[in-house]
Amino acid sequence: MEDLSPRKGDLDAIETASRDEIAALQLDRMKWSLSHAYQNSPFYRARFDDAGVHPSDLKSLADLAKFPFTTKKDLRDTYPFGMFAVPREKLTRIHGSSGTTGKPTVVGYTQKDIDTWADMVARSIRAAGGRAGDMVHVAYGYGLFTGGLGAHYGAERLGCTVVPMSGGMTERQVTLMQDFKPRIIMVTPSYMLSILDEFRRQGIDPRESSLAVGIFGAEPWTNAMRQEIEQSFDMHAVDIYGLSEVMGPGVASECVETKDGLHIWEDHFYPEIIDPATGEVLPDGEMGELVFTTLTKEGLPIIRYRTRDLTRLLPGTARSMRRIEKITGRSDDMMILRGVNVFPTQIEEQILKCQGLAPHFQIELSRAGRMDTMTVHVECTPEAADEIARASSAKALGHYIKSVVGVTTKIEIRDPGGVARSEGKAKRVVDNRPKE
Ligand code: DLL
Repeated sequence: MEDLSPRKGDLDAIETASRDEIAALQLDRMKWSLSHAYQNSPFYRARFDDAGVHPSDLKSLADLAKFPFTTKKDLRDTYPFGMFAVPREKLTRIHGSSGTTGKPTVVGYTQKDIDTWADMVARSIRAAGGRAGDMVHVAYGYGLFTGGLGAHYGAERLGCTVVPMSGGMTERQVTLMQDFKPRIIMVTPSYMLSILDEFRRQGIDPRESSLAVGIFGAEPWTNAMRQEIEQSFDMHAVDIYGLSEVMGPGVASECVETKDGLHIWEDHFYPEIIDPATGEVLPDGEMGELVFTTLTKEGLPIIRYRTRDLTRLLPGTARSMRRIEKITGRSDDMMILRGVNVFPTQIEEQILKCQGLAPHFQIELSRAGRMDTMTVHVECTPEAADEIARASSAKALGHYIKSVVGVTTKIEIRDPGGVARSEGKAKRVVDNRPKE
């Protein structure tokens, strides 16, 4: 694969600034952000007053710990615009995350917010090895979801040619990729696997495609999956992270030259890791729940937002800004089986170790008597579809899951194509346990 390391002169100065410079900028911006929230959002004013804190109490970055957390519930309770800090007419755009039930979580952006977002996604694409003039195929969904439009504006900002495909119509995605020859694709990793299947179905060798870089995010995926995609397409696969409440894609992104976790664009987003049970701030390096404070956002400032995403903070490498380790999962996706915590990413890793299995899977939870049971539905590859191969794949997977993850599972081997395909975020867990 090509060496895509950027030239130092191409980077924003802050990407290679000293830690002191970054911290000084953060402190200035954090003071602004807390005052902006307090003065212009009645929600935050009431919250801070209730907690007995005032923006002027922030003298150092560590003082942020005195301020109350914000959660998804706060956004729901103030639906649709109750947390905003500018009049509705000042908003340029609204996005929302669909959630599984009910009303979406609504977020809003001023023109300045949209500009910052485009800058951060442009920075992320550049970190992934993109540059002006590249063609970028965007297969994240367009709409209220931030993936499509977020990627789109960032790619334009970098000076790329954007193909706004959105998700779905997989056959057409492949045809247009063959015709237009994009160098970069931005898509969820699970939908990339559906695209991979389609290349093969059409008899096209994916390694011969024009793609040199894939920028994958919006759902957890493992380093094992990275290798699978990189080998299948002969391309670089890098991780991009974000969430609508904080902005959208481009809150943190991996650098192609290191692929060692995602650099948080700390000039706009301040990270903390907390103990999810106590809310206590944990030191860098410790695993916990990721919390973000926006430093420049006008429309919907976010103060200490609990993401529910589990990871840890690591020092900078390719850039000065700190990294998060690849996200293990969301605390909401954690399954507890006979006392053992299990994340879908752990199952993904084990599946990718097994020769005769394709990386398409779904986990089903059910209850037999008082016991929760887990069934992993996974596909065999066309080459390993006979009875004997299936039995040996099932045995191998069951063994890996038991010995590495520590739980006993039932394995159901499906035919090729037998597990539902994703066109966006994959649904990894189906919970068929009776509702309490
Ligand atoms: O998924 C924004 C996005 C779009 C990010 C495209 C990257 C690419 P939401 O729909 O609000 O926003 O969902 C946010 O998705 O809290 C994580 O749980 C998960 N997530 C996003 N990126 C990653 C990633 C977009 N790279 C939620 N790895 C977040 C793991 C991710 N999980």
